[in-house]
Amino acid sequence: MSFKRQPAEPYRIKSVEPIRLLNKKTREEKIKNAKYNLFQLDAQDIYIDLLTDSGTTAMSARQWGALMMGDESYAGATSFRKFETVVKDIFKKKFVIPTHQGRSAENIFFSTVLKKGDYVPNNTHFDTTRANTVHKGGIAVDLPCPEAESEEAFDFKGNMDVLRLDEFIHEHGSDNIPVVIMTVTNNSVGGQPVSMKNIMEVSSICKAHSIPFFMDCARFAENCYFIKRRESGYTDKPIKEIAAEMFSLCDGVLMSAKKDGMVNIGGFIALNDEKLYRKLTELLIIVEGFQTYGGLAGRDLEALSVGLQEVLEFDYLDFRIEQVRYFGEKMTEAGLPIISPTGGHAVFLDAGKFLPHIPADQFPAQALAVAFYLEGGVRAVEIGSLMFGGTDPVTGEKITAKKELVRMALPRRVYTNSHIDYLGEVAQRIVANKDWMAGFKISRQAEFLRHFTVELEQLKSEKIEIS
Ligand code: F0G
Repeated sequence: MSFKRQPAEPYRIKSVEPIRLLNKKTREEKIKNAKYNLFQLDAQDIYIDLLTDSGTTAMSARQWGALMMGDESYAGATSFRKFETVVKDIFKKKFVIPTHQGRSAENIFFSTVLKKGDYVPNNTHFDTTRANTVHKGGIAVDLPCPEAESEEAFDFKGNMDVLRLDEFIHEHGSDNIPVVIMTVTNNSVGGQPVSMKNIMEVSSICKAHSIPFFMDCARFAENCYFIKRRESGYTDKPIKEIAAEMFSLCDGVLMSAKKDGMVNIGGFIALNDEKLYRKLTELLIIVEGFQTYGGLAGRDLEALSVGLQEVLEFDYLDFRIEQVRYFGEKMTEAGLPIISPTGGHAVFLDAGKFLPHIPADQFPAQALAVAFYLEGGVRAVEIGSLMFGGTDPVTGEKITAKKELVRMALPRRVYTNSHIDYLGEVAQRIVANKDWMAGFKISRQAEFLRHFTVELEQLKSEKIEIS
């Protein structure tokens, strides 16, 4: 597939943060003490941390410089005015509400627009969006396109199923659907992009039924890059123009700026509806802060204003998406099955396929994630039956996830291509020993979101005979 050398990092390093690889024996002790739960490890005991791409970005020299310009006035700070101008320019909306991160934007938004029993269709809800919808009495409806589940490569696996959306609206009536949301890129189906065509179709369905259309745009620039690369008519368009077209199709956005905002904390809502803006602001002032800082310091708004512009640079995005693709290629070369094609922010390993001898209720994806720590000091996250499984409270039946995945998310501008080569070597060592890998059983768990605190016991390894 690759016909050229990887693009080299489009930046040079001005400040470094040492990382160290503990020896294998110490890693064994650390993970055992953490009860085989990677969330319970100390970050200093990790060599390469791929737990998330959220809030883990390395800021640029321009952003660090901008921090000093922070105006910390309680009201009307110049830092807010700058931020507001940048957001209006990129997202093409009239009103801007800062929040401290994405889920607080969700909390304020859904508390205001939802009434009990309302439906919220989304291509696929991210966990916190789902939780905030359900928390306010809403019903979160996922409508991914059929290709999302396919083993075949498809350019826009993040799309929404527009036929089902239309049917759904006819079935339930627009009065019970206060908003339709499109998540770009679609994190929960592998960071897969959504096409402009799909966004246009969803937008016109929403218009026809007078339903507001919002975007959950944490990774909007990565989505625009895929549109430029894969959708006809966009090859020569600058990323910023593609973003402008995309956002002109929706009524508002919710953004966790910890991703494509290129900062360590921040979020916002931007929208055109003045009445709704006023309502949201009332709640914002109660739960986050005054409308010109919304839970952030002036300096945070300065860094975010710069980050939102830097993320639109083609060279940055080209390196970023190519690095994720290269990472996926290294995993495939080593013999680890992945969700293909790779998306924007992470490589998703298919542990169910890789470890067929470990049943879902013994958590094959956790076995693979733990193997990455033991072999290479790498931290990733299980997205399988440990995260989504459990026991049905009504029937008492065991629930397992649809897929047993490990997400390896790449922080922005943090790791170099030689770190990726290292990850490839770790994967090779894991593949060589796969027949010895064993699953886990739970020794202690919480009622909700058990994966954060669960304690596990490693089952005895039995080498399987390959016939
Ligand atoms: N929307 C999407 C699509 C996200 O991926 C996230 C967070 C949020 C909203 C919530 O934003 O963390 O700022 O409150 N995703 C992180 C992840 C946590 O690891 O994928 P937040």
